[in-house]
Amino acid sequence: MNNVVDIPTAKTERPRIAPGPKGSLLMGVMSDFTRDTFGFIERCRDYGDVVRMRFLYMTAYFLYHPNDIEYVVSTNAKNFLKSRNQRSPLFQRLVGNGLLTSEGEVWKRQRRLSQPAFHRQRINAYAATMAEYSQRAISNWNPGEERDIHRDMMRLTLEIVVKTLFNADVSEDAEKVGNVLARIVTPFASQASLKWIMDNRLPTLTHRRFNRDASEIDAIVYRIIEARRRSGEDEGDLLSMLLAATDEDGSRLNNRQLRDEVMTIFLAGHETTALTLSWIWYLLALNPEVEKKFHAELDEALGRKLPTIDNLARLPYTEKIAKESLRLYPPAYALGREVVKDCEIGGFRVAAGAQVFMFQWVTQRDPRFFDEPDRFLPERWTPDFVNNLPKYAYFPFGGGPRVCIGNYFAMMEILLVLATIGQRFRFSLVPDQEVKLMPAMSLRPAEGIRVLVENR
Ligand code: HEM
Repeated sequence: MNNVVDIPTAKTERPRIAPGPKGSLLMGVMSDFTRDTFGFIERCRDYGDVVRMRFLYMTAYFLYHPNDIEYVVSTNAKNFLKSRNQRSPLFQRLVGNGLLTSEGEVWKRQRRLSQPAFHRQRINAYAATMAEYSQRAISNWNPGEERDIHRDMMRLTLEIVVKTLFNADVSEDAEKVGNVLARIVTPFASQASLKWIMDNRLPTLTHRRFNRDASEIDAIVYRIIEARRRSGEDEGDLLSMLLAATDEDGSRLNNRQLRDEVMTIFLAGHETTALTLSWIWYLLALNPEVEKKFHAELDEALGRKLPTIDNLARLPYTEKIAKESLRLYPPAYALGREVVKDCEIGGFRVAAGAQVFMFQWVTQRDPRFFDEPDRFLPERWTPDFVNNLPKYAYFPFGGGPRVCIGNYFAMMEILLVLATIGQRFRFSLVPDQEVKLMPAMSLRPAEGIRVLVENR
């Protein structure tokens, strides 16, 4: 035994520092990222599964392998906070210290408090509202007319989330909120998203406009809270649960905390779902074979009847369409974390304070895990395929303790809206439009999606 030579293993031979693009002396890779966000995050994969770079003075890692993603968001989640850009003053101004952005004990408490509103049983009771609101939304649509389906979906999902979770009606404000939101997310678009790492507090024109816009939405949120306080009714919904919640010391959530929670659900709960629906209509218009099967399933399962929670199980192909769309066009196209203590990821040393980014946009199109990765193929989602897929090769709702609290809510809503609208209408894309992606807070079509409404 003593004569055995100590041959270095592959592990000890590995460089300890991950490879990656150097970028410029001052800015690091900031301008490459800014110029072409999706191209950049795709090209970086050529360096490997763990890629190191610098944004200004901040070290960042891009992780592409499902195992490393699982390590960060799930198995070793305790060693990671939300990334710095999510704690920027801009983001704080929008969603404050609500469920999406809070950490530690505050987050734990808020998650515990909100969870009952998202239990399956409870969500099932929202199904009727989801179908009825979808029906109402299309009641004045006419064949032959042109619509921006993205704008329509934003409006509908906002109305649904506010009605189901806060029992309020915002149909009169929905247009305004949509317009304001469209302006608000612009500073998060590629040219700025990671720039906010810099904690930019300068009172620039953009900032001032952003603050003004955010105040407009604040006013609507405060109005909803005030109305409920005044009525004193326990509606049994999320808002009542938040209003009734008390700390161990008996104190209640103050107005600011309530506003943060309501605003978080307001935003997190509608834009992502609206985007999923918009991308699905877009993909259906481009894939007539899939659309045909979708219609056949609706006719067979529902005929002309409004869908209910009980017949959702009869729409397996529609569910595959939703899954496949969430793979190709994930509204949350990136997850970001900050490292708390030095650690090792994929064999590379990663120091405390580094920012770690994982991209649904790239990993969910990785040819190692998906055949013909760029094709829209709902049929791929067989039980066998699902069983063999590494867990974090597909993570549209994130994972681990910070997994989307609204994932079941969203899937149900998506199916019900698709089924209700798909029974009546189909959409073709207005010719000669280029549907461009905007990597804003979420994956948006830069200028909407213009469609022509047709009777089925
Ligand atoms: C297709 C629709 C949706 C997508 C793709 C989506 C995606 C995500 C993702 C990826 C995360 C994790 C973020 C991270 O780990 O950094 C998340 C968290 C969250 N989502 Fe969603 N979401 C959707 C719908 C909804 C809905 C309908 C609601 C509420 C009604 C909602 C509320 C939230 C909240 C509150 C969090 C933070 C949870 C926590 O940190 O404890 N989402 N979502």
